[in-house]
Amino acid sequence: MTDYFRKKAHTNELITTFDDVLLLPGFTNFEPNQVDISTKLGEKYKFNLPILSAAMDTVTEEEMAIKMALFGGLGVLHRNCSHEKQLKMVRYVKRARSFVIEDVATISPEEPLYKAKNFMENYHISGLVVVDDGNKVCGIFTKRDIPFSEDECKKGLVKDFMTKDVISIKPGASREDALEMLFRYRIEKLPIIDNGSLKGLITKKDLKPEFPLASIDEEGRLLCGLAISPKYPTTSKAVSNLKEIDQYADLLFIDVADFYKKDDMDGTRKLMDLLEADFVIGNIGTYEAAEYILTKCDYPEKFIALKVGMGSGSICTTSIQTGVGAPTLYATAEVADAIADYNPKMGLIADGGFKNPGDLPKAFAVGADMIMSGHFFAGCTESPGYLDTIQGRKVKIYRGMGSKEARTTNYVLDRYSVEAKMLPEGVSDYVPFTGPLESMLETLKEGLSNGMIYTGALNLQNMRNAKMGVISAIGQAEARPHDLLGKY
Ligand code: XMP
Repeated sequence: MTDYFRKKAHTNELITTFDDVLLLPGFTNFEPNQVDISTKLGEKYKFNLPILSAAMDTVTEEEMAIKMALFGGLGVLHRNCSHEKQLKMVRYVKRARSFVIEDVATISPEEPLYKAKNFMENYHISGLVVVDDGNKVCGIFTKRDIPFSEDECKKGLVKDFMTKDVISIKPGASREDALEMLFRYRIEKLPIIDNGSLKGLITKKDLKPEFPLASIDEEGRLLCGLAISPKYPTTSKAVSNLKEIDQYADLLFIDVADFYKKDDMDGTRKLMDLLEADFVIGNIGTYEAAEYILTKCDYPEKFIALKVGMGSGSICTTSIQTGVGAPTLYATAEVADAIADYNPKMGLIADGGFKNPGDLPKAFAVGADMIMSGHFFAGCTESPGYLDTIQGRKVKIYRGMGSKEARTTNYVLDRYSVEAKMLPEGVSDYVPFTGPLESMLETLKEGLSNGMIYTGALNLQNMRNAKMGVISAIGQAEARPHDLLGKY
């Protein structure tokens, strides 16, 4: 039988997944509070939480992306939407927190007041700096300046309601100077002005060390990840759209079910030449795919990580529809080997298939630097979509990007192979509502940290030395609650 498989399919490999394996306990010589779960992607990106939320339209839009980054991970904004919506999302994430905002939201003093009001509402910002045609600051207009009277709102101009005496600070001022001024004048916003011209804005909320673990860039802004197609745009408008988004996104995630395709590799190369952001490429599932990308593609240094796993997501049907897949644990182990052989600096993201917190330590043990999940986060308060109730249980919708429901928009058709356009590779269903993201992340962190303590791994790097073995079917059953009267 084995020979038959060898000849026919060239492999007799055992393709294992999370439930097939178990980590063995190791010697622990540190205190639980010393466990370090921080990680890196490339030289530039440090994360205090090695977790990403998936680029899916029922998982990551701006609210999820902001919270994921505030708690130390990263939310990857999905691509199942128009350019305008993607732009709005990336701008929103990049503006959510920063020490100095350079891309300040401004308005002219001559504009009608309702325009300022709409702008603030649309972009969720609490105030605008008022500048004239020459970028000279003439006032500041905040939500508190909006009159109660509807009539005044309709007819008034910004200049009639703005605060004219603007308290400002000079460029180069320190965080402490800014904090002192904000407190002294009991204000929330401090424009940076040089010779009357607007140079930036400091806001009180961005200076507060409220989220010490946040994933931030050099200017204190939250890191922003965004999914894009590997296809190079065919119109100049689409090229300039991508360039516009590139001004905000730190990390672009090439988002296809199977990246091991010449066409997608060539498209990605051109995108790398066009854009400034760093790139994560995915998904792939085998040593050979990683070897090819690492040795034949000759991508520039902005290519910093590979994302792996095919068909193992909780909403995926790729494996049953096409007979092809690479479960995330197997794919991670395979690609980790290729990375060790060809470019040990390359980051590795294990994507999809995580069902329990205990799956996380297993992914790190086989070589992941970060893990990505949609399943853990689709039911959180911060995911897009409404709460529904089914038989008294609160639920939210979670759908695969290859499901027929997600494909009605056309934006993600090229995530899958062209011939498969009519064949759904995902499903749409409900998941239980799980409340705020923070508590979900706490649970995952605890599962990961405790797994590290049991295996004796002080940090994620040490986790790779943990011993792991394939567990028998009887062992699997024993690892779960059993022989009880309950309804597990
Ligand atoms: P989980 O297990 O967290 O997996 O639900 C999320 C990952 O699944 C991938 N994804 C899909 N794969 N058909 C697929 O075969 C789909 O419709 C689909 N939608 C998402 C994706 O990599 C995601 O991060």
